[in-house]
Amino acid sequence: MPKCTINGKQIEVAEGTTVIEAFMKLEQNIAHYCWHPGLSVAGVCRMCMVKVEGNPKLQIACNTKVTEGMVASNEDAKVKEAVEWILGFHLINHPLDCPICDQAGECGLQEYYMTYGKYDPAMAEKKVKKKKVVDLGPTVVLDSERCILCDRCVRFTSEVTKTNELSIFNRGDHAEVGVYQERPLNNNYSYNVVDICPVGALTSKDFRFKQRVWYLKDFNTICNGCSTGCNVKAYYNENGFYRIKPVYNKEVNGHWMCDTGRDMYKFVNLEKRQTSAVKNVNGTSEEYSPIQATREIGVLLRKNVNEAAAVLTGQYTSEEYASFFATMKDFGIKDFYHWVNNPEKMEEFDGLLLRGDRNPNTAGLRAEAKKANINLRNAKDLDPKKHTLIIVAGPEVQAFYPDLQKSVDAWSKSQTLVWLSSCKNPVLFAAHWIVPMKSFVEKNGTFVNYKGIEQKIKKGTTIVGEALSLDEFAIAIKGERVDVEYTSPLGGLA
Ligand code: SF4
Ligand code: SF4
Ligand code: FES
Repeated sequence: MPKCTINGKQIEVAEGTTVIEAFMKLEQNIAHYCWHPGLSVAGVCRMCMVKVEGNPKLQIACNTKVTEGMVASNEDAKVKEAVEWILGFHLINHPLDCPICDQAGECGLQEYYMTYGKYDPAMAEKKVKKKKVVDLGPTVVLDSERCILCDRCVRFTSEVTKTNELSIFNRGDHAEVGVYQERPLNNNYSYNVVDICPVGALTSKDFRFKQRVWYLKDFNTICNGCSTGCNVKAYYNENGFYRIKPVYNKEVNGHWMCDTGRDMYKFVNLEKRQTSAVKNVNGTSEEYSPIQATREIGVLLRKNVNEAAAVLTGQYTSEEYASFFATMKDFGIKDFYHWVNNPEKMEEFDGLLLRGDRNPNTAGLRAEAKKANINLRNAKDLDPKKHTLIIVAGPEVQAFYPDLQKSVDAWSKSQTLVWLSSCKNPVLFAAHWIVPMKSFVEKNGTFVNYKGIEQKIKKGTTIVGEALSLDEFAIAIKGERVDVEYTSPLGGLA
């Protein structure tokens, strides 16, 4: 465990720790582009210069290991001058794209220019022109002029996905990132290269030109795309959600997330949502407020207690299950079923993060059922003719349930089928009642991932003000008071 001094502060680190890692541990600012904690060391950008006592020349911190008694600093005027020059070299051929660049506002070049730059450019030569809109594959676009050749994206595809789609071609100021002609960047983790590109060279086809990043707010939550439960940040404003990015969690997802998970924000925006309760009788539909509808369902439930059943998916929080089970048991309901997204694929795993169980809280559902002494039966065994009333806590992400239509059609043979759903879908109109539910960004609670790790989701905002959580549904069905938020008839974020 060598001891060293970084910017005058002492620290003991594990054998093999690099100087940049010691800087990070002490939360000392250090410029860097090519180093990334989830990738190998490349040492190509030369931004992480430090002065090490006893060494006549400056060194890069990312490729220098801490030794016993080492004294390193980046506060020295010589280091600052060196970093300014290096930044100047990075910017020699960089276009003046900031006003039209998606990265503006969260760009490493802008940030370091304000910290180390602010110089008058020493170059009078014309900038080297490169290709500006290079289609790398279905998800990512490259602007070669903006690339600083840090090699992060190349290392990502060689070390993390091991798909090796990206490489650096040519030399000197002709060097460019690219793909081999017949092999586009097309893996289920491709958006991570956009996150780790320190400049605006790699942009996401899904996000580019949709929003300026300074108009977005964000909050940390858990991806609801599968049972891994990647830690993520969700970005939104008054018009809805725009993107999801990974947040580091060593135990769960490391630095990354899959492209499937990036789509999760699309199911929470207003255009996809069920905004009011609907009663479908004899081909006509009547709109209700969710609370009023739930109360009417409660009256029906009391009349059908002995023949009623509940079907649950692993897409709600543990707290919601606990409250729902308690209420249903109070009513005297005995039949509970578990509906899984794709029985044959539940145990699948892509080797990195994505799991076949596309539900964030299957483990939480099973645990809460066990606590409530409830035997969850397989939804495949549900016979709608035996139940006069069926309540389905349906999936938030319906795309993961290939048997959605088949299930709605089959279960609608019951006298009353009640479907709880955050998303609207014409398929659901076979149900007798549809009640709008909150999405995962509109409520607090716990998801338990496949490993048994409990993680909190957090309410970021409200999109459908009157939508209910499953626990609110459980209160309203008893006829008790639930305080719901007001939303205009057009909906919209509160
Ligand atoms: S495209 Fe971005 S991540 Fe890739 S080498 Fe260039 S600057 Fe680095
Ligand atoms: S692996 Fe699962 S939890 Fe992680 S981002 Fe992908 S879908 Fe979401
Ligand atoms: S971060 Fe050290 S050389 Fe790039």
